Amino acid sequence: MTKGLFIVFEGGEGTGKTTAIEAIYNWLIENNFKCIKTREPGGIKISEEIRQVILNKDNTAMDGRTEALLYAAARRQHLVEKVIPALQNETIVLCDRFIDSSLAYQGYARGLGIEEVMSINKFAIGEYMPDISILFDLDPKIGLERISSSNQREINRLDLEKLDFHENVRVGYNIVYENNKHRIIKIDASKSKENVISDIKKILKAKISANMN
Ligand code: TMP
Repeated sequence: MTKGLFIVFEGGEGTGKTTAIEAIYNWLIENNFKCIKTREPGGIKISEEIRQVILNKDNTAMDGRTEALLYAAARRQHLVEKVIPALQNETIVLCDRFIDSSLAYQGYARGLGIEEVMSINKFAIGEYMPDISILFDLDPKIGLERISSSNQREINRLDLEKLDFHENVRVGYNIVYENNKHRIIKIDASKSKENVISDIKKILKAKISANMN
Protein backbone atom coordinates (compact mmCIF):
# COMPACT_ATOMS: atom_id res chain seq x y z
CA MET A 1 0.00 0.00 0.00
CA THR A 2 1.38 3.40 -0.97
CA LYS A 3 0.77 6.65 0.88
CA GLY A 4 -0.79 9.43 -1.16
CA LEU A 5 1.47 11.15 -3.66
CA PHE A 6 0.87 14.48 -5.34
CA ILE A 7 2.45 14.44 -8.80
CA VAL A 8 2.19 17.51 -10.97
CA PHE A 9 2.88 17.90 -14.69
CA GLU A 10 4.10 21.30 -15.84
CA GLY A 11 5.16 22.96 -19.08
CA GLY A 12 4.16 25.31 -21.87
CA GLU A 13 1.48 24.82 -24.50
CA GLY A 14 1.65 21.69 -26.65
CA THR A 15 4.40 20.02 -24.64
CA GLY A 16 2.48 16.72 -24.42
CA LYS A 17 1.61 16.79 -20.69
CA THR A 18 -2.00 15.83 -21.13
CA THR A 19 -1.26 12.80 -23.33
CA ALA A 20 1.46 11.66 -20.93
CA ILE A 21 -0.88 11.96 -17.91
CA GLU A 22 -3.42 9.73 -19.65
CA ALA A 23 -0.77 7.05 -20.34
CA ILE A 24 0.68 7.24 -16.81
CA TYR A 25 -2.78 7.07 -15.28
CA ASN A 26 -3.62 3.90 -17.27
CA TRP A 27 -0.27 2.36 -16.33
CA LEU A 28 -0.83 3.02 -12.59
CA ILE A 29 -4.38 1.66 -12.69
CA GLU A 30 -3.19 -1.48 -14.52
CA ASN A 31 -0.66 -1.91 -11.71
CA ASN A 32 -3.44 -1.67 -9.11
CA PHE A 33 -2.56 1.72 -7.65
CA LYS A 34 -5.31 4.00 -6.39
CA CYS A 35 -4.93 6.95 -8.72
CA ILE A 36 -6.86 9.95 -10.04
CA LYS A 37 -6.07 12.41 -12.80
CA THR A 38 -7.19 15.99 -12.63
CA ARG A 39 -6.28 19.41 -13.96
CA GLU A 40 -5.87 23.08 -13.17
CA PRO A 41 -7.54 25.40 -13.51
CA GLY A 42 -10.54 23.11 -13.10
CA GLY A 43 -10.99 19.56 -11.90
CA ILE A 44 -14.17 20.33 -9.96
CA LYS A 45 -17.27 22.43 -10.70
CA ILE A 46 -16.33 25.73 -9.04
CA SER A 47 -12.82 25.70 -10.47
CA GLU A 48 -14.05 24.73 -13.95
CA GLU A 49 -16.35 27.77 -13.76
CA ILE A 50 -13.40 29.98 -12.81
CA ARG A 51 -11.50 28.39 -15.74
CA GLN A 52 -14.22 29.55 -18.16
CA VAL A 53 -13.80 33.12 -16.96
CA ILE A 54 -10.00 33.08 -17.13
CA LEU A 55 -9.68 31.43 -20.53
CA ASN A 56 -12.61 33.10 -22.30
CA LYS A 57 -11.17 34.70 -25.46
CA ASP A 58 -13.53 37.67 -25.03
CA ASN A 59 -12.07 38.63 -21.65
CA THR A 60 -9.34 40.76 -23.20
CA ALA A 61 -9.73 43.40 -20.43
CA MET A 62 -8.51 40.99 -17.75
CA ASP A 63 -5.80 42.54 -15.58
CA GLY A 64 -2.71 40.44 -14.84
CA ARG A 65 -3.24 40.47 -11.07
CA THR A 66 -6.89 39.51 -11.52
CA GLU A 67 -5.71 36.60 -13.64
CA ALA A 68 -3.19 35.51 -10.99
CA LEU A 69 -5.81 35.74 -8.22
CA LEU A 70 -8.35 33.74 -10.21
CA TYR A 71 -5.82 30.96 -10.83
CA ALA A 72 -5.00 30.96 -7.11
CA ALA A 73 -8.70 30.85 -6.19
CA ALA A 74 -9.35 27.95 -8.58
CA ARG A 75 -6.28 26.21 -7.11
CA ARG A 76 -7.49 26.62 -3.53
CA GLN A 77 -10.92 25.18 -4.19
CA HIS A 78 -9.57 22.26 -6.23
CA LEU A 79 -6.99 21.51 -3.54
CA VAL A 80 -9.45 21.40 -0.64
CA GLU A 81 -12.29 19.75 -2.50
CA LYS A 82 -10.40 17.13 -4.50
CA VAL A 83 -6.64 16.85 -4.00
CA ILE A 84 -6.37 16.80 -0.20
CA PRO A 85 -9.20 14.25 0.30
CA ALA A 86 -7.62 11.98 -2.33
CA LEU A 87 -4.18 12.18 -0.72
CA GLN A 88 -5.72 11.43 2.66
CA ASN A 89 -7.30 8.39 1.04
CA GLU A 90 -3.82 7.14 0.01
CA THR A 91 -4.37 7.94 -3.64
CA ILE A 92 -1.80 9.01 -6.21
CA VAL A 93 -2.98 12.34 -7.64
CA LEU A 94 -1.79 13.21 -11.16
CA CYS A 95 -2.45 16.88 -11.73
CA ASP A 96 -2.09 18.76 -15.01
CA ARG A 97 -0.49 22.03 -13.72
CA PHE A 98 -0.23 23.58 -10.26
CA ILE A 99 1.66 26.46 -8.62
CA ASP A 100 4.67 26.41 -10.99
CA SER A 101 2.32 27.38 -13.84
CA SER A 102 1.43 30.55 -11.94
CA LEU A 103 5.09 31.28 -11.18
CA ALA A 104 6.10 30.87 -14.84
CA TYR A 105 3.06 32.41 -16.59
CA GLN A 106 1.92 35.16 -14.20
CA GLY A 107 5.10 35.63 -12.16
CA TYR A 108 7.61 35.71 -15.00
CA ALA A 109 5.91 35.97 -18.39
CA ARG A 110 3.29 38.51 -17.24
CA GLY A 111 5.95 40.29 -15.22
CA LEU A 112 4.10 40.24 -11.87
CA GLY A 113 7.17 38.84 -10.10
CA ILE A 114 7.81 35.23 -9.11
CA GLU A 115 8.02 36.12 -5.39
CA GLU A 116 4.79 38.14 -5.46
CA VAL A 117 2.89 35.36 -7.19
CA MET A 118 4.41 32.87 -4.76
CA SER A 119 3.06 34.89 -1.85
CA ILE A 120 -0.57 34.99 -3.05
CA ASN A 121 -0.32 31.28 -3.76
CA LYS A 122 1.02 30.57 -0.29
CA PHE A 123 -2.19 32.11 1.01
CA ALA A 124 -4.13 29.79 -1.31
CA ILE A 125 -2.33 26.51 -0.68
CA GLY A 126 -0.63 26.87 2.71
CA GLU A 127 2.14 24.31 3.00
CA TYR A 128 0.66 21.92 0.42
CA MET A 129 3.28 21.46 -2.29
CA PRO A 130 3.57 18.68 -4.88
CA ASP A 131 5.77 15.69 -4.02
CA ILE A 132 7.24 16.18 -7.48
CA SER A 133 6.63 18.43 -10.46
CA ILE A 134 7.65 17.03 -13.83
CA LEU A 135 8.56 19.88 -16.13
CA PHE A 136 8.08 19.25 -19.87
CA ASP A 137 10.68 21.46 -21.49
CA LEU A 138 10.13 22.27 -25.17
CA ASP A 139 10.79 25.06 -27.65
CA PRO A 140 7.42 26.92 -27.73
CA LYS A 141 7.58 27.16 -31.53
CA ILE A 142 7.27 23.37 -31.62
CA GLY A 143 4.58 23.32 -28.91
CA LEU A 144 2.38 25.93 -30.59
CA GLU A 145 2.83 24.18 -33.91
CA ARG A 146 1.66 20.91 -32.30
CA ILE A 147 -1.49 22.64 -31.00
CA SER A 148 -2.39 24.30 -34.26
CA SER A 149 -1.88 21.12 -36.26
CA SER A 150 -4.03 18.99 -33.93
CA ASN A 151 -7.69 19.67 -33.33
CA GLN A 152 -7.56 18.05 -29.91
CA ARG A 153 -8.43 21.21 -28.04
CA GLU A 154 -9.93 24.63 -28.50
CA ILE A 155 -7.59 27.62 -28.65
CA ASN A 156 -7.94 29.72 -25.45
CA ARG A 157 -7.08 33.30 -24.39
CA LEU A 158 -3.55 32.38 -23.31
CA ASP A 159 -2.80 30.48 -26.51
CA LEU A 160 -3.48 33.72 -28.36
CA GLU A 161 -0.49 35.44 -26.71
CA LYS A 162 2.45 36.12 -29.03
CA LEU A 163 5.43 33.76 -29.33
CA ASP A 164 7.44 36.13 -27.09
CA PHE A 165 5.10 35.42 -24.19
CA HIS A 166 5.44 31.66 -24.61
CA GLU A 167 9.22 31.99 -24.85
CA ASN A 168 9.12 33.90 -21.57
CA VAL A 169 6.97 31.16 -20.02
CA ARG A 170 9.75 28.70 -20.87
CA VAL A 171 12.40 31.01 -19.37
CA GLY A 172 10.19 31.45 -16.28
CA TYR A 173 9.83 27.70 -15.83
CA ASN A 174 13.58 27.27 -16.10
CA ILE A 175 14.20 29.92 -13.43
CA VAL A 176 11.71 28.19 -11.12
CA TYR A 177 13.40 24.86 -11.92
CA GLU A 178 16.91 26.17 -11.13
CA ASN A 179 15.68 27.37 -7.72
CA ASN A 180 13.68 24.24 -6.87
CA LYS A 181 15.67 21.27 -8.12
CA HIS A 182 14.78 19.35 -4.97
CA ARG A 183 11.15 19.07 -6.14
CA ILE A 184 11.14 19.64 -9.91
CA ILE A 185 12.41 17.14 -12.49
CA LYS A 186 12.90 18.48 -16.00
CA ILE A 187 12.38 16.23 -18.99
CA ASP A 188 13.14 16.80 -22.66
CA ALA A 189 9.68 16.97 -24.25
CA SER A 190 11.09 17.08 -27.79
CA LYS A 191 11.67 13.31 -27.52
CA SER A 192 9.11 10.87 -28.90
CA LYS A 193 5.93 10.32 -26.89
CA GLU A 194 7.08 6.76 -26.04
CA ASN A 195 10.44 7.98 -24.73
CA VAL A 196 8.86 10.76 -22.67
CA ILE A 197 6.41 8.31 -21.10
CA SER A 198 9.14 5.81 -20.36
CA ASP A 199 11.27 8.57 -18.72
CA ILE A 200 8.31 9.48 -16.50
CA LYS A 201 7.67 5.86 -15.55
CA LYS A 202 11.28 5.57 -14.34
CA ILE A 203 10.91 8.73 -12.25
CA LEU A 204 7.62 7.55 -10.75
CA LYS A 205 8.81 4.01 -10.01
CA ALA A 206 11.61 5.48 -7.90
CA LYS A 207 9.29 7.95 -6.18
CA ILE A 208 6.60 5.35 -5.45
CA SER A 209 9.02 2.83 -4.00
CA ALA A 210 10.65 5.52 -1.82
CA ASN A 211 7.17 6.50 -0.66
CA MET A 212 6.33 2.94 0.37
CA ASN A 213 9.23 2.73 2.84
P1 TMP B 1 -4.20 24.09 -20.14
O1 TMP B 1 -4.22 24.58 -21.54
O2 TMP B 1 -2.95 23.34 -19.82
O3 TMP B 1 -5.43 23.42 -19.73
O4 TMP B 1 -4.08 25.38 -19.18
C1 TMP B 1 -4.82 26.48 -19.37
C2 TMP B 1 -3.97 27.73 -19.55
O5 TMP B 1 -3.83 28.39 -18.32
C3 TMP B 1 -2.57 27.50 -20.09
O6 TMP B 1 -2.33 28.50 -21.08
C4 TMP B 1 -1.69 27.79 -18.92
C5 TMP B 1 -2.47 28.77 -18.12
N1 TMP B 1 -2.20 28.80 -16.68
C6 TMP B 1 -1.63 29.92 -16.11
O7 TMP B 1 -1.32 30.89 -16.81
N2 TMP B 1 -1.42 29.94 -14.76
C7 TMP B 1 -1.78 28.91 -13.95
O8 TMP B 1 -1.57 28.97 -12.73
C8 TMP B 1 -2.38 27.74 -14.56
C9 TMP B 1 -2.79 26.59 -13.70
C10 TMP B 1 -2.57 27.72 -15.92
